Amino acid sequence: MKYENNILNKNIFDLINELFKKEKESKNPNYRNNFFNKNKENFVLTDDGSYSVKSKEINNKIETLHTSSGAISESFEKFINPLKFKNKSKISILDICAGLGYNSSAAIAEFKEKDLKIDMVEISKPTLACGILIPSPIPEHNITKKAIEDSLIKQKYASLSLQQKDIPENIKINIFIDDARKTIQNLNSNSYDAIFLDPFSQNMSPELFSLDFFKQFRRVIKDDGIICTYTSSAPVRAGFIEAGFHVGAGPIFGRKQGGTLASLSVDSLYESLPQNDEIRIALSDVGIPFRDINLNNNSEDILKNRALKRKESRHNTKISSAVKTPIFLTKDMNDEKLKRRVERNLSKMNIPSTTSKEAFFILEPEDSYEKKQTYQNNSRKRIIEMIKRLDIVKNNI
Ligand SMILES: C[S@@+](CC[C@H](N)C(=O)[O-])C[C@H]1O[C@@H](n2cnc3c(N)ncnc32)[C@H](O)[C@@H]1O
Repeated sequence: MKYENNILNKNIFDLINELFKKEKESKNPNYRNNFFNKNKENFVLTDDGSYSVKSKEINNKIETLHTSSGAISESFEKFINPLKFKNKSKISILDICAGLGYNSSAAIAEFKEKDLKIDMVEISKPTLACGILIPSPIPEHNITKKAIEDSLIKQKYASLSLQQKDIPENIKINIFIDDARKTIQNLNSNSYDAIFLDPFSQNMSPELFSLDFFKQFRRVIKDDGIICTYTSSAPVRAGFIEAGFHVGAGPIFGRKQGGTLASLSVDSLYESLPQNDEIRIALSDVGIPFRDINLNNNSEDILKNRALKRKESRHNTKISSAVKTPIFLTKDMNDEKLKRRVERNLSKMNIPSTTSKEAFFILEPEDSYEKKQTYQNNSRKRIIEMIKRLDIVKNNI
């Protein structure tokens, strides 16, 4: 049997594959029933009592699939709480990187009275299988487990139907076991109220944070739909903007900074991005997004290509991000050494000093900054306007 697309650490990956192989040969339910207790040390207990697992090494990094602050709590905080769905009776969610099924289960817990459709997309069968082996952190996880089990039986990975809980009539769960970049190209346009984007970090999975992937989001999401992701990364936010979305700060949980929310409609969002984030995304090379034009490049090349594009853009179309140069625009600086470095970077973009008229001209959109986003006053509008103004100054237009 061939298992592709492994992302789990080798111990747990081998144990899970072995388990389902034995189940197939013996048709004995005990292998599965005893698995968690026998192999507990291979799981990671998070602060809220829910379990996670560790990944294998990808691009020299190993990550736990969920935050140590609490796997299921993060699902509610980052993915469910931002959804303004009180008045919707029918809800359709695309859960990208479904993993152990926590985000989908949290959605079921929140919207179980509604007509709910969830499309889960996950590249790795053993990871989905892991979702049915761990203790359920909330009762609704048993519904997700049933859907995962059905799908793994259909795929001939699992052999026995052991999950007791039936999927209620009003809930429809589809599971796509494939690269999300491939799956999304076959999904219908204008069909989702929410997209959960929950990959590993951008250095491990830049392919799931690319501008080109986000262009597909734009196609499949409804006009008032919302994208929730945990990262506050500048290239990710820049990618959403270039793909046509409004962006806003998402809830903070288990990390220093808030996540990101994106929508075609500013009404679906809450707060603006922090001001310095807007400035850095608009004016410096950190705002160069990841590119994956044919949605099939590998992560190393995507990282390398972005590094190259950042280099090309520095002192050319963007202010250098070194020493966070753009955040000093319009500021008086006391640190002479830092000031010299900042002003050297600025001079290459035809900005004579941090307090020159050019500096004030570029940053003018930030004068009207408000935390609450509105149609007139929002992060997207300010960022696009600052990009235009930098171009005018650099090219003496
Ligand atoms: C941080 S974990 C997601 C946790 C998950 N949302 C949950 O509720 O348990 C990231 C997941 O992304 C999956 N993944 C990685 N690359 C993928 C791809 N190209 N397409 C779909 N899933 C992918 C991994 O297998 C892993 O399960």
